[in-house]
Amino acid sequence: MFLFLFLLWLLLSLVLVAVLSFLFLRQWLLGRKNKLHTSSENGINVGIFHPYCNAGGGGERVLWCAVRALQEKYQNARMVIYTGDIDASPNSILQKAKNVFNIAVDSDNVKFVFLKQRHWIEAKNYPHFTLLGQSIGSMVVGLEALCRFPPDIYIDTMGYAFTYPLFRYLAQSKVGCYVHYPVISTDMLKRVQQRQMSHNNKKYVARNPFLTWTKLAYYRLFSRMYKWVGCCAETIMVNSSWTENHILQLWDVPFKTHRVYPPCEVSHLKSLQHTEKGDEFIILSVGQFRPEKDHPLQLQAIYELRTLLAQDEALWNQIKLVIVGSCRNEDDYERLKNMQDLTKHLSLENNVQFSVNVPYEDLLKLYQTAHIGIHTMWNEHFGIGIVESMAAGLIMVAHKSGGPLLDIVETSAGSQNGFLATDAVEYAENILNIIVNNSEMNGIRNAARASVERFSEQEFEKNFLRAVSTLFTNN
Ligand SMILES: *[C@@H]1O[C@H](CO)[C@@H](O)[C@H](O)[C@H]1NC(C)=O
Ligand SMILES: *[C@@H]1O[C@H](CO)[C@@H](O)[C@H](O)[C@H]1NC(C)=O
Repeated sequence: MFLFLFLLWLLLSLVLVAVLSFLFLRQWLLGRKNKLHTSSENGINVGIFHPYCNAGGGGERVLWCAVRALQEKYQNARMVIYTGDIDASPNSILQKAKNVFNIAVDSDNVKFVFLKQRHWIEAKNYPHFTLLGQSIGSMVVGLEALCRFPPDIYIDTMGYAFTYPLFRYLAQSKVGCYVHYPVISTDMLKRVQQRQMSHNNKKYVARNPFLTWTKLAYYRLFSRMYKWVGCCAETIMVNSSWTENHILQLWDVPFKTHRVYPPCEVSHLKSLQHTEKGDEFIILSVGQFRPEKDHPLQLQAIYELRTLLAQDEALWNQIKLVIVGSCRNEDDYERLKNMQDLTKHLSLENNVQFSVNVPYEDLLKLYQTAHIGIHTMWNEHFGIGIVESMAAGLIMVAHKSGGPLLDIVETSAGSQNGFLATDAVEYAENILNIIVNNSEMNGIRNAARASVERFSEQEFEKNFLRAVSTLFTNN
């Protein structure tokens, strides 16, 4: 009895302490938030969470484009970027944005808060329960950001959803986010349920029914929490149809969810002059030598094309598949070697050329002389390489799945901007159609070049500003 009372008392005091510290922290943060305002008369403080802002990848192009757009539209907003790149200086970060992306932001109106706790969100620290570990880790980092600078508007551009309730409930910030990738997906749940092995479902888990059950319960609970924290955002941007479908399944707030394609640099490709040689049909494939790119399917397609062209030896001799790709490591070189062997095995060596690690200028020349682009990866989430090839004026034959199907290639008459295929024969038929009906392809080429405008920086800025505008009203 005494023990029971004691435990009850302990529990109550813990709850009381938690509530009191929440209220105290909140009071302190609101005071601090107000203080930040007296120095800038009726300005709005915008905090952008991007712990890896100096990485120079596609996610960072989104960040800098967004910052520039916000600066232009909201002159009275003060921009602060929360980053963990403590070894870089503000100037070097902005210089890199200029050099890598050719995006110049106004350096007078962007400050940095350098976070010392970023190591909390690195996956390598959490060999088990990675999802939960990283999520709690991101709350620690988020809390540091929040205490250092409580903003009026908080925008997360890296998808750390577990930081949203902190900003929303502790500092009463308005929250917006840009999601590249859901941290958990219904596919992951399905794999565990069907007890399939994969990189995030180890063999001993897949084999053991009890572990599978536990893991499923863990994933389910996690998806619930993910939904709750995600819904703390007032506006949610997703980078593609693929991500949109997943986020709609998980968070289920369609009225707050907006598809905003990330900006691609296509204008210089669109202005490339096309100088195809009359006596050669070049089919260009651009992509790393990674297994999921499915280069063997490209070789099989060319093999089938030869069968279709059995009557026309002369035309066959004009066809050339140029496979451009980069090799990052031993495994990539190994795959390249296998592909070269397969080429010989299919006796295609006169019609297939491999170009490894070509400089960008040479790639531009290839874009100018090629007729057709080929892409064979199944279920690619987007396919920036396809967008670039289309911008450069190639007629694309892409895989009928994922991003190419949902976002990029349109095949209905009237608005056709490319072709889709699934198996080697279909690829070959489409390629033959393009070659034989070459004179009719200009319409498709023009449509393709015009359609990539949907992925331009201007289009991104317009849609981004529209999606975040609700955060700026009543402020
Ligand atoms: C969205 O982000 C994911 C993860 O970074 C990436 O795989 C995908 O290509 C992106 N989509 C677009 C349209 O860039
Ligand atoms: C060329 O175009 C015509 C009309 O669109 C089509 O019927 C024909 O099948 C095409 N040729 C090939 C080889 O696909």
